Amino acid sequence: MGLSLALSALGLEKGAEILLPSLTFFSIPAMIAYMGFVPVFIDIEPTTYLLDLDQAERRITPKTRAIIPTHLYGQPVNMDHVLDIADRHGLIVIEDCAQSCGARFKGKRTGSFGDIGYFTFGPTKPFTTLGGGMITCKDPKVAEKIRAAMHDFTPLGRVDVLKAAVKGAAMKMATNRSLFGSFLWPALRVFRVFGKDPIEESFREPVKPITGIPAHYFRRLTSVQSDVGASQLQRIDRLSAIRHRNGKYLAERLLGTHDLIVPTVNEDAEHIFTSFVVQTSDRQYLSRELLRMGVDTATGYMSACSDLEMFRDYRTECPNASLAIANMLHLPVYHTLGIKELEYIVSSVKKALDVT
Ligand SMILES: Cc1ncc(COP(=O)(O)O)c(C=O)c1O
Repeated sequence: MGLSLALSALGLEKGAEILLPSLTFFSIPAMIAYMGFVPVFIDIEPTTYLLDLDQAERRITPKTRAIIPTHLYGQPVNMDHVLDIADRHGLIVIEDCAQSCGARFKGKRTGSFGDIGYFTFGPTKPFTTLGGGMITCKDPKVAEKIRAAMHDFTPLGRVDVLKAAVKGAAMKMATNRSLFGSFLWPALRVFRVFGKDPIEESFREPVKPITGIPAHYFRRLTSVQSDVGASQLQRIDRLSAIRHRNGKYLAERLLGTHDLIVPTVNEDAEHIFTSFVVQTSDRQYLSRELLRMGVDTATGYMSACSDLEMFRDYRTECPNASLAIANMLHLPVYHTLGIKELEYIVSSVKKALDVT
């Protein structure tokens, strides 16, 4: 994973404190702790899901060395504000671009502001190479250290590449509109009635501490994967623009719905809506009603990490993150949805909530 390479190359001393949002993928603070640093959890803003930068600044101590602005769900953090804090306090900025590949702040891509940025191109990301990732780096000396650390990494074997390609092709077929509608969706509905979601479960990693760097972190991208990535570069802006349009449309049309918090888009941010996340006081009810009306939802794989037992030594109150995790639901936003489908989603959500 990019973060472990970045942290090793930066040469921070053990015990260095690293500021990061509580609402994130658990493996990020787990890696920080595993490497001997201290994750300092910062609460999020309730409707952007991005780290509260005023709170982050208040939590700086003489041991703080770095800040991780996570561009969560595809929305860039206000990088002017981050860089200002980092400048005044001498902090290293490590951008988490796992969900923001292609997003821009003030016209500039995420990953090009901080000292380091890490990207991940797993199979569920809008920009994917079916595994692997990328690191961007400002200081050529740090970049050289990262390259040197990767010197002995080996590419995936042929069998693994084949497995990834078969998995990718199966996913593409399964999400084909007519196939999904006629086979997968009816099957999924039956599973959901019994409280199961085989798709979400198959992608979810068990939330547990890191006890050693997994072997697959020592892999290089194969040329086939690089080719997949290179070909996707040509459509990244077009697909990001469609998701941006879809997300903004949903947010505007759903604003004011009873018992629904819709995501807000920051000025200057080109939010690419990797996910469209709402909050409601009874998400099971909403998800059940939407399922009945044919609208798929998910709860996602983020955690309020400050609440997890595995981080009890770093526990802090982050009420917005805790509430978001309890109440969040992802609505469909992907690029193949047109205005007609978006309108159907809007009317279904309103029908489910406005009557209560
Ligand atoms: C916000 C965020 N950060 C970091 C990661 C880490 O990704 P990986 O373990 O694939 O490097 C993910 C994974 O999807 C993520 O969503």
